[in-house]
Amino acid sequence: MPANTKEAVQRALAHGLVIPAFNIPHLPMLKPVVQAVCDEDSAAMIQVARLEWEKFESESLERVAEEYAKYANPAHTLLHLDHVPVIDEDHLEVDFMPIIRRAIAAGYQSVMVDGSRLSLAGNIEKTAQVVREAHAVGIPVEAELGAVMGHETQQQSIPYEEIFASKAGFTDVEEARRFVAESHCDWLSVAVGSVHGAIADNMLDKKKPAAKLDIQRIEELENALGIPLVLHGGSGIQQDYIRRGIKAGIAKINVGTELRQPYERAMRERNDVAYAQECVYGRCRELIRDFLGTSGDAALLLG
Ligand code: 13P
Repeated sequence: MPANTKEAVQRALAHGLVIPAFNIPHLPMLKPVVQAVCDEDSAAMIQVARLEWEKFESESLERVAEEYAKYANPAHTLLHLDHVPVIDEDHLEVDFMPIIRRAIAAGYQSVMVDGSRLSLAGNIEKTAQVVREAHAVGIPVEAELGAVMGHETQQQSIPYEEIFASKAGFTDVEEARRFVAESHCDWLSVAVGSVHGAIADNMLDKKKPAAKLDIQRIEELENALGIPLVLHGGSGIQQDYIRRGIKAGIAKINVGTELRQPYERAMRERNDVAYAQECVYGRCRELIRDFLGTSGDAALLLG
């Protein structure tokens, strides 16, 4: 019997390993990503965020689940619902609970609610609401506290180094302690220096800043919370920081831009889905092997 999602992430934390979670902004990306995960003998989540069916081309969470059902391999893959914001990147309120319910009905094995644009109390309240419903049917919940930048529809004007030096928006340890105790979330996405892949039109094809991580803050958060931490904005982080971040408590890492850009570039060049899928497959294998270092982890995490 394969481990369930909660156990898998717990095992990653216990063994100092990480579970990559690959985003699917275009439906044809799913097949080569699953294939790459299996061929590298890795364990990984396949995930989609609301903005990827609203602003990109994954159509709906149900379409991603259908595609997943065709190619999934439970010895290697899990299906996760990424960011369902309470307030979205355009600062509009989202009716988030029906989306969470649809995902659970469609077979998603874990869900994320993102209340990070709310006050601490508001974020706790909305996250706890999702946790109550999801836990009642055995589904773990990821939440976010702090401001992981990048999902702005306008280009960020402050240079990355300045943000990192000031630690503006980084997750506060005492707030996180209260947040986890009161919301009962299973995993926490923390703001510790990474940046989401930009979604502003003029930034879609640009290289991301080579982000760093505040390793000390990750250690402090892990010591205070004792639950698996999640790193968003995995693309483009300097590799040594990835390795040290995993040791310090990051047990799930989200990767989107590093696969979306090769897909979109290939489609622009040749308008050939099979070719674009090949590019995604090759890049995904490289990321697993050389960047994340998760080749061969499947049995330990999901066996
Ligand atoms: P990147 O696009 O920077 O890899 O971030 C993905 C992400 O965090 C999705 O939630």
